[in-house]
Amino acid sequence: MSTKPSQEEGRTLRFEIFRYDPTRPEVEPHLDAFELVEQPYMTLYLALNRIREEHDPSLQFDFACRSAVCGSCGMMINGRPGLACSTLTANLPDVIRLHPLPAFELVGDLSVDTGKWFREMAERTESWIHERAPFDPEAIEERMDDDLAQAIYEGERCIECGCCVAGCGVANVNPRFVGPAGLNRIARFALDPRDARSDTDWFEVLASDDGVFGCLGLMACDDVCPKDLPLREQYAYLRRRTMGAARAPLLQVEGVANAQG
Ligand code: SF4
Ligand code: SF4
Ligand code: FES
Repeated sequence: MSTKPSQEEGRTLRFEIFRYDPTRPEVEPHLDAFELVEQPYMTLYLALNRIREEHDPSLQFDFACRSAVCGSCGMMINGRPGLACSTLTANLPDVIRLHPLPAFELVGDLSVDTGKWFREMAERTESWIHERAPFDPEAIEERMDDDLAQAIYEGERCIECGCCVAGCGVANVNPRFVGPAGLNRIARFALDPRDARSDTDWFEVLASDDGVFGCLGLMACDDVCPKDLPLREQYAYLRRRTMGAARAPLLQVEGVANAQG
């Protein structure tokens, strides 16, 4: 006999979904309610597809990979940022309220333009290797310490879903703040020995309320990152790098004073 609950045995879930189309400002933002019978292993992604197929084909939301890889399906799930494709309805109450991620430009309903935010952040932080020397195709490949390669890879695992940015109070009120994903990106390049940027260069990017000094350190970003990136360690590393640059002229003065003393 099957132990799986039948469709009739599942809970009736009530979805309250934010609706707004910026191209139709005459229609006020509001919540639309839909009911679905829960099925085994139902994710929010599957539920939203059923709502679109069975109730309202105009419902907007994003997805591509359905396996927590592309970063498209971030949304506020009962007030907490998360990925629709990796969130099981079984872990949620009977009433599920969905909103778009804040801090990003709204496309419509649950769909936001994270790409625009991440592109601007990448340009601001110059998220590419600043080479120390012109590429030499004849040069022997340089070795890298395994631990360092792993640390760089940890930063690279970000899927740009925007959940951390949505969960960050500072990013929500200060659009100039590079945000948790931006700080992670900077740490990734600051760690990389192939990048020519010095502590002083990074100090210019980081040492303000729009950089690492704007971070309040309460780690909401760390709590909601669906890929468990080591954001806490990244910020600690950036603070150390920034303070190193800030202290450098002072140390030089101290060094001169000691030599003279
Ligand atoms: S720890 Fe910093 S980056 Fe993370 S949510 Fe708080 S203010 Fe934002
Ligand atoms: S750091 Fe985590 S939460 Fe933030 S964008 Fe990357 S994967 Fe998403
Ligand atoms: S659909 Fe790709 S992360 Fe959810």
